[in-house]
Amino acid sequence: MLRALMQILRAEFVTSAASRAGFPGEGLPEVAFVGRSNVGKSSLLNKLAQRRALARTSATPGKTRLVNFFRIERRERAPVLFVDLPGYGWARVARKERAEWQKLIEGYLDGRGPLRAVLLLLDARRDPGDDERDFLPWLAERAIPVRLVVTKIDKLNASERDMRLRAITKELGIPREAFVLTSAHTGLGVDALWSEIDALVARGEGAP
Ligand code: GTP
Ligand code: MG
Repeated sequence: MLRALMQILRAEFVTSAASRAGFPGEGLPEVAFVGRSNVGKSSLLNKLAQRRALARTSATPGKTRLVNFFRIERRERAPVLFVDLPGYGWARVARKERAEWQKLIEGYLDGRGPLRAVLLLLDARRDPGDDERDFLPWLAERAIPVRLVVTKIDKLNASERDMRLRAITKELGIPREAFVLTSAHTGLGVDALWSEIDALVARGEGAP
C-alpha cells in the first residue's frame, strides 16, 4: 500500500512565552501538547513536524518551562501552530513553582481563541494520575476538544501493550478507540494523529 506521507514544507519556532503577555497574536488554528513532564510532548511534536530538534527534548524532566509556539506548514493544508506546554507533575519541583506552571498552562488553555484541540499525552508505562483525571472535566467545562495520545509504545511488547491499555482505559473510564497509540521513535501512530488533528482543526473552522 502506498503511504500518503504528510509533506512538511516548513516548521519553525515562533516564540516562547512565560505569561499571557508573551503569547503571539491570535491567528492560525492551534493544537496544544499537554502532559506530565517527560511523557514525550516535545519528541512527538518533532516527529509530527518531521524535524529532529525543533522543540528541545531531554531525558531530564522539566526541560520545557515556557509555552513554545511552532508554526507548521504542510503541502495542500492550512498551516497550524503547535503549542508545546510545560510538563506538570514533576515531583522535584517546589510547590510554588508548580503553582506557577499551572497558572501558565491554564493561562494559555483558558480562553485562547484559536485553540482547536488539546492532545493529552499519557506514557504507556504509567497509570494516569489525579492530574489527568481532573484535567478532562476541566477541558470539558470549557468545551475544549481533547484527544488522548499514548506515548512511548515502542517500549512495550504486544502483550504488555494490551495490559497497559486496559489499565489506562479503565482508570480514565474512556473506551480504547478514543486513544491514539504513538511512538516518537518508530513513528507509529503519527499519520493517524495528523488525521485526527486535521479533523479537529476542520471542525473548529466550521466544517461538519
Ligand atoms: P518536558 O519538556 O520535561 O515536559 O518533557 P516532554 O514531555 O517534552 O518529553 P521529551 O519529548 O523531552 O521526552 C522525554 C524523554 O523521553 C526523552 O529522553 C525522549 O527521548 C524520550 N521519549 C520521548 N518519546 C519517546 C518514544 O516514543 N519512545 C521512547 N522510547 N522514548 C521516547
Ligand atoms: Mg518538552
